[in-house]
Amino acid sequence: MPDDDLMQKIVSLCKRRGFVFQSSEIYGGLRSLYDYGPLGAEMKRNIRNLWWRDMVSRRSDVVGIDASIIMSPRVWETSGHVEKFADPLADCRKCQARFRLDLVPKDGDGTVKCPECGSGDLSEARQFNLMFRTNLGPVEDSAHTVYLRPETAQAMFVDYANVQQTYRLKLPFGIAQQGRSFRNEIVVEHFIYRSCEFEQMEMEYFVRPGEDERWHEYWKDFRLDWYGRYGIRKDNLRLRAHRQEEMAHYAKACSDVEYRFPWGFAELEGIANRTDYDLKAHAESSGRDLRYFDQETGERFFPYVIEPAAGVDRTFLAMLVDSYCEEEVKGEKRVVLKLHPEIAPIKVAVLPLVRKEGMPAKAEEVVKMFWAEGINAFYDEKQSIGRRYRRQDEAGTPFCLTVDGDTMKDGTVTIRFRDDMRQERIASEASVEVVKKALAAGA
Ligand code: GAP
Repeated sequence: MPDDDLMQKIVSLCKRRGFVFQSSEIYGGLRSLYDYGPLGAEMKRNIRNLWWRDMVSRRSDVVGIDASIIMSPRVWETSGHVEKFADPLADCRKCQARFRLDLVPKDGDGTVKCPECGSGDLSEARQFNLMFRTNLGPVEDSAHTVYLRPETAQAMFVDYANVQQTYRLKLPFGIAQQGRSFRNEIVVEHFIYRSCEFEQMEMEYFVRPGEDERWHEYWKDFRLDWYGRYGIRKDNLRLRAHRQEEMAHYAKACSDVEYRFPWGFAELEGIANRTDYDLKAHAESSGRDLRYFDQETGERFFPYVIEPAAGVDRTFLAMLVDSYCEEEVKGEKRVVLKLHPEIAPIKVAVLPLVRKEGMPAKAEEVVKMFWAEGINAFYDEKQSIGRRYRRQDEAGTPFCLTVDGDTMKDGTVTIRFRDDMRQERIASEASVEVVKKALAAGA
């Protein structure tokens, strides 16, 4: 399938099945802002929960925080975002297109042409700061200016001493957070890939200086592997080291986990060695001593930081792209999302064959059996069984259970497996174990 086609199919599936809609659609939509519908909200929550489970809950060296989105403006002055978090913006004098100069490839002679009309008559580049500004309180003046955070990371530096001391953490240790970030992006592209409001999952891992490079390698491997664990094909993933000129102002080294999107390999996550840049800067600016005290040696020093910084929305899009399949079944097209069971929004659909003879009530009983185990089960009785299977295929539901006449006699159900459409007859109680086993496989 041509790649443009694939992206359009994903966007249309997202709208049709309630994964993602454009924000404020009834008012004509808002540029680059999206709402996640019922299936999308479940799937996004699964991504967040699995990241938290693997990065925080199941590690004794990482703790989590949940900080406010608006922080003191001094945080962003100190971190360098007020001065440096900007993209070069240029205008075409011929067609008035506005674009990011650094994203347009240069000609052989080093000149840049308008990506819309090809004219070389461009304005001088201006630095455009990506942070959204607002006011805290009713007064609108510069003394009350605050910013919506452009990354979740700074809270981990600003709260570093509180967390380290209250939790008595010893190096190496990490502080993690998930949440919304905001960037007034000049170019928004590829659906939810680059938008102005998105969710990040970031962790700052504090280490002894000198051990930073070893830990950087560790986190690069760990994070690359993480995407594979949840179903993304390994040959669609790669690590790419940043060139010197791409590096953020705080980084000594950085590698991106990239996914082969329909338009080419692009960043899913950045894993940076931030050195002691942030803690040192905040210590100097706030006047607080943010050095780590080593009780064994009596030394005080600023730890170095390794930062795996991932995006929920990009992970979501990569998982949709990677799992999307079209197959022909008995002369008809079947669209199926072969999502990892832990990522799939619905784990099991329970379908009464007909709406009579006690089947709906029995199917509801089966649904409740799953709910009692904390498993997201969905009851569907609308339309033919074939159509219901197709609907669940498009939603990525790994298992369908059909309740029919035999169920009413002997308590067995038909379990249908999404990927190969195999069907087996099992006791309805046993179906819970089958689903649990599939969910535990990635754990
Ligand atoms: N604290 C470091 C940091 O924020 P980043 O590479 O700018 O680094 C980390 O962002 C991740 O956040 C990216 O890899 C991407 O997944 C996500 N992200 C960044 N900007 C985004 C945008 N405009 N839309 C969607 N996701 C974005």
